[in-house]
Amino acid sequence: MTEELLNLPVPHVPAGDHGVAWLRANVVRFSNGAEHARRRALTTKLIENVHATTLDEFATALDLPGSLGDIAEIAPSYQPHEPVTAAADAAVERLARSHDEETAARIGLLVQAWAATHALAEHLRTGDPTPPVPITRRAAEGGVIEVGLDAHPFGHGPHACPGRELATRIAKNMAFRAMHHQDEPLILPNAWDYASAAALHAAGFRAIGTTSLGVCAAHGIVDGSGLADREAVALARKLSDLPCPVTVDLESGFRTAPAEVAELVAGLGVAGINLEDGRPHGLVTPDEQANLISTVKERAPGVFLNARIDTHWRGLALAETVDRAKRYVDAGADGIFVPGVTEPRDIEALAGLAPLNLLAQHGTPSELAGLGVKRISTGSLLFRAALQHTVATAQAVRDGGTAAAFSYAEVQDLISRGTRSDAG
Ligand code: HEM
Repeated sequence: MTEELLNLPVPHVPAGDHGVAWLRANVVRFSNGAEHARRRALTTKLIENVHATTLDEFATALDLPGSLGDIAEIAPSYQPHEPVTAAADAAVERLARSHDEETAARIGLLVQAWAATHALAEHLRTGDPTPPVPITRRAAEGGVIEVGLDAHPFGHGPHACPGRELATRIAKNMAFRAMHHQDEPLILPNAWDYASAAALHAAGFRAIGTTSLGVCAAHGIVDGSGLADREAVALARKLSDLPCPVTVDLESGFRTAPAEVAELVAGLGVAGINLEDGRPHGLVTPDEQANLISTVKERAPGVFLNARIDTHWRGLALAETVDRAKRYVDAGADGIFVPGVTEPRDIEALAGLAPLNLLAQHGTPSELAGLGVKRISTGSLLFRAALQHTVATAQAVRDGGTAAAFSYAEVQDLISRGTRSDAG
């Protein structure tokens, strides 16, 4: 039924030669028939090669750099049933260097992206399952009707959202960043394969990380050797399908040149990465690591870069850790991760510099929250626990006992299509 309703024409909008009226009259969203088909083709073409990680990058790709302030002004007046403000009209005129269909398409794409992507990010952050755009409107025989989008959050039929993939990636990035600026720390469980990640997501964790020990050991590779490149990258690509933000442990980047690491990160489609300054032979200099961080952030600004600082567990003084943290944050790191730190005074000093990530080692989440910690990772713990449970289960079978386990059907459900970002 909803699908039939969404196939109805969209309500008519009157012609307009400037401001919001001009925009509404020239975008794909409020047109029907041949006009819609032509504008739809134009719109799709404008975004087909865009791989933006933020709305800002998207604006630049649409040749409207720095326009998000104006777009935010236009968005509340965009829908034909909303009143048009003078500020919205003025913002359209600032952006419309010429009043042609392609200019309208560029502005329209950003306006469509603006509110919906912010709403989707907030739903991802809070776990709200309702559609970020709750209703749309159609022209029916008796007049304009409202159609609920519960079953089709990205629409359906001729007007279905063409920006779905891009929107999902940008919204996951935004949500993941916001998860590091909450009062309560983000509890980030680390998976090692698709099933462990899907099971954690299904259990209600809103973001998932990976553990390099788990990924390496599962493939017979020694952790930290830099040899799990293919496995880590393949897993990242698979996990980017999950409906929640995913962050992957890239060790020190798996490539020699910073530009190659940046290219790799931009192509993964994940919301976050961990990059460490430890190498198999020791620590790199802070300058080298800062250069790597800034190169990656320039190429993929929306990907949350968690800079792992390996000083503490190599026995260096806190001053060295603080100095490196400052340099990495100046270079663009979004968060810092210092494994091994447990002393409350050290934690507080580091938490004042950037969102601080610690391993779940000492202290409860609320104790760590009190010290300013913003993210608590399980690291390799879940993989190690699973390994232990595997052996214990086999021993129980051998010894005539039983052990708790997911059922076959539960595991199949976890990896069904309904669990992916593009489901629905
Ligand atoms: C990069 C971000 C986005 C872009 C560029 C974008 C672009 C568009 C465009 C151009 C349309 C009109 C298509 C047409 O009329 O043929 C549209 C429709 C739609 N979009 Fe998006 N969108 C974005 C994000 C989102 C998000 C996050 C959601 C919510 C989950 C969403 C939900 C929808 C829905 C429901 C429609 C269909 C409206 C209807 O049928 O009346 N969009 N989008």
